[in-house]
Amino acid sequence: MTATPHNLSFNLGVCPTQVRQTPRRLAGGVALLAGLAATPAPAADARVPYVPTPQGVVERMLEIARVGPGDFLADLGSGDGRIVITAAKKYGARGFGVDLDPERIKDSNDNARRAGVADKVTFYQRNLFDTDLGAATVITLYLLPRVNLDLRPRLLDLRPGTRLVSHDFDMGDWRADTHVNMPAEDKYAGAGGSSDIYFWVVPAKVAGVWQWELQLSGKPLAYELKLDQSYQRISGSVSVGGRPVKLQEARLRGGEISFGFTADVNGSPVKHQFTGKVAGDVVAGSARLSGARLERQHEWSARRTGQPAAAGPGAGWSSSAAAH
Ligand SMILES: C[S@@+](CC[C@H](N)C(=O)[O-])C[C@H]1O[C@@H](n2cnc3c(N)ncnc32)[C@H](O)[C@@H]1O
Repeated sequence: MTATPHNLSFNLGVCPTQVRQTPRRLAGGVALLAGLAATPAPAADARVPYVPTPQGVVERMLEIARVGPGDFLADLGSGDGRIVITAAKKYGARGFGVDLDPERIKDSNDNARRAGVADKVTFYQRNLFDTDLGAATVITLYLLPRVNLDLRPRLLDLRPGTRLVSHDFDMGDWRADTHVNMPAEDKYAGAGGSSDIYFWVVPAKVAGVWQWELQLSGKPLAYELKLDQSYQRISGSVSVGGRPVKLQEARLRGGEISFGFTADVNGSPVKHQFTGKVAGDVVAGSARLSGARLERQHEWSARRTGQPAAAGPGAGWSSSAAAH
């Protein structure tokens, strides 16, 4: 992978006046990033070099995350600021970037002023591991696999629904909700290549036992749902009036949960579909019941009454769910 200095600005796909960088440094960073990505060193030892995300990839990342005017975006290791600046200029978001390198911060502030978005974005010279991410609705990353893995516990503890987009590197066994590979001719300072984009929505922690009642034909019917969770994947079992039924179509996206099952009510099968929003140990939403003798929609809420058993193999993040 070699940089081609004479056409560097063109190949970066951004306005040449927007970005100042040193070709030799950039080429060195490219080789270093490729080498470090293959090294199983702990993140604390890894120096993530400066390699900019090609502009076309920046825009695709922001589209996949559906960034809009209501968003507050944080780019961890923000380089010349292009992701935050594009989010503000093209998609109307606000946001901030953090980078260890003071030169990158200076470039970012200059670039934000030139792009006319200095009032919407801020750049801090700061270690990303010391950065409060609580206000972000979208977080972008172009770091290294080990750094992503070291950040992962913090990312999983963010508000459910927070969107994460990573250029080129995944999060180990936390599978992405969306993975896109795209050509990026201007990548690596014009050397060309392709880019992977990984997208996740931080899931609510829902493992455990949930209980509720519905009033059917004037009588209460007791429901119990036991959920296992591995990141955004959920499975489990359900009982209605003390009788087990098969849980179907259980889905979780951020704090939005949905599932269904068919259970006998007064001697005839009734399809149940639940959708709700999780807030701590309470979920609230609606229940739709449909059968030969019953067709109705209920307001529905359930409460978590028991925590999950100890994490089993492949449970991944279930152990932190247990502390919820
Ligand atoms: C691969 S570049 C990505 C730049 C930008 N996000 C982009 O996609 O164009 C990684 C950046 O992270 C910065 N960086 C590395 N380790 C960091 C840390 N611990 N805290 C803050 N910034 C860091 C580097 O200085 C570099 O500018």
